[in-house]
Amino acid sequence: MARKLAAGNWKMNGSLAALAEVDALIGDLDGGCEVLLCPPATLIAPMAARATGSALMVGAQTCHPATSGAHTGDLSAAMLAEAGATHIITGHSERRTDHGETDGDVAAQTQAVLDAGLIAIVCVGETEAERDAAVTLNVISTQLAGSIPEGAAPAQIVVAYEPVWAIGTGRTPTLDQIADVHAHIREELSERLGAAQADHIPLLYGGSVKPGNAAEIFGVQHVDGALVGGASLKAADFGPIAAALAAS
Ligand code: PGA
Repeated sequence: MARKLAAGNWKMNGSLAALAEVDALIGDLDGGCEVLLCPPATLIAPMAARATGSALMVGAQTCHPATSGAHTGDLSAAMLAEAGATHIITGHSERRTDHGETDGDVAAQTQAVLDAGLIAIVCVGETEAERDAAVTLNVISTQLAGSIPEGAAPAQIVVAYEPVWAIGTGRTPTLDQIADVHAHIREELSERLGAAQADHIPLLYGGSVKPGNAAEIFGVQHVDGALVGGASLKAADFGPIAAALAAS
């Protein structure tokens, strides 16, 4: 069995004032699952300070593949670790779209995360056109193969399935569609790493997860948690999602 993880991605939202949400969230955590928030990089250190002594973990949304150098505006995995990050999201569809990141880029970033001793949350997911063309599983296979570097330690990998068309839209796949993709991801990871290793990799679903649909999504086989965008910004939404996961 994989461990359960409720991960929040604040994207380019939040401010020091928003850290009040962290206090509220910490008060709600019951230890039944891992809980992570990935705020903008500027908030990692203050959020980590706020979370000290609690079960809340803090992560980053991306990193540069290099450890240091002439890369204006970028941050290395080690820098993010020093700020307090334990996890780094790689290959989010917004990075793939807004910054043209390829599977090769994502693999290099993921390797950097692993080299820094952190956990990578590697995102994969099909566009609506790809789902309509019935190539979802092929797309997922290609992204998985290309985005997770050779020799990656399974203990440092989390995979998030995020259909691009479900992100921030209020639309979600059917539970059967989620089940099909998650079973496929588990199978692909098993072929590559062996079942014993693959079974321990948390598989998250992401895309319009809300308090109202979390419990049914967490009831789907091979769903070990969620990567939550909009509903992670408020403790009143994210707390119940984490509680639903803990109870699943
Ligand atoms: P959403 O975003 O929950 O706002 O749909 C999910 C994500 O992008 O991780």
